[in-house]
Amino acid sequence: MEHLIDIKSISKEEILNIINLAKEFKKGTKKSDVEKKTLSLMFYENSTRTRCSFEIAAQKLGMNIINFDASHSSLSKGESLKDTMENLYFLGVDAVVIRHSLSGIINNVMRLVKYPIHFVNGGDGTHAHPSQALLDFYTMLEKIGSVEGKKITIVGDVSHSRVAKSNISLLSKFGADINLCAPTYLQFENEQAFNVKYHNNVKEAIDGANVVMVLRVQNERHEKAGYPDSTEYKRMFEIDTNLLKQYAADDVILMHPGPANRNIEVSSELLDNRVGKTILEQAQNGVYVRMAILNTLLKGDK
Ligand code: CP
Repeated sequence: MEHLIDIKSISKEEILNIINLAKEFKKGTKKSDVEKKTLSLMFYENSTRTRCSFEIAAQKLGMNIINFDASHSSLSKGESLKDTMENLYFLGVDAVVIRHSLSGIINNVMRLVKYPIHFVNGGDGTHAHPSQALLDFYTMLEKIGSVEGKKITIVGDVSHSRVAKSNISLLSKFGADINLCAPTYLQFENEQAFNVKYHNNVKEAIDGANVVMVLRVQNERHEKAGYPDSTEYKRMFEIDTNLLKQYAADDVILMHPGPANRNIEVSSELLDNRVGKTILEQAQNGVYVRMAILNTLLKGDK
């Protein structure tokens, strides 16, 4: 693996290698192979979990970290991303984590850059968020052992979600029974593109589910402000303790990539109880999975 751009570009074996390495980092039985390598964090869109966990992961690996501030960089003078990356490489940067609002921008820059800097997609538009899908998979394996044949229901703004796309891509490789639940106007337009089951009714969607993954309504990506109406959305799709108890499997795990909008897509009470704690453990696993990603990409470099 040279880069991590999306899940479709990596094999099952590469995914399992990352998961196993993350387990070792979590147990403390594996040492870093990438001490003194340099990582640049380039976030053109806001982030808490992804940015902080990549930074903590790099610190634990003994790497040098550059927090690149796009607004104070020469990008504001018209320098291209390609020139920025090539200059960073010559300054000694080994890898960059990029988050950007434009879908596919990292693939484009990667094709243009002539030098062997490693690219990690930290979330690009509505396209992909591969490190999130890997940490979600890690958390599912930790909690339920395997995803094969398990009912995994993703509820929320599927159409704008890079997390949903990367999870579908990954979970499909491992034989999960993937269910999506959203109002029709927040489902994928091209439903045939994904081999999943679609639902409008949340009770039917989570019936017997082993994993319920809740997504935020991503208002910042909607063309029309104030749509959907949050009261209406909450009435139809909010996940709460009663709903999970009544319909999902007894040992269901609740997941959310964050940030969560309390009392809209998920009840505040559920977030703060034992079931909701998995969401914090999910974020914590992000550190170990991102250590595994960085170690895998950089360990072979001279
Ligand atoms: N899940 C996720 O990408 O969260 P952040 O936007 O806080 O990084």
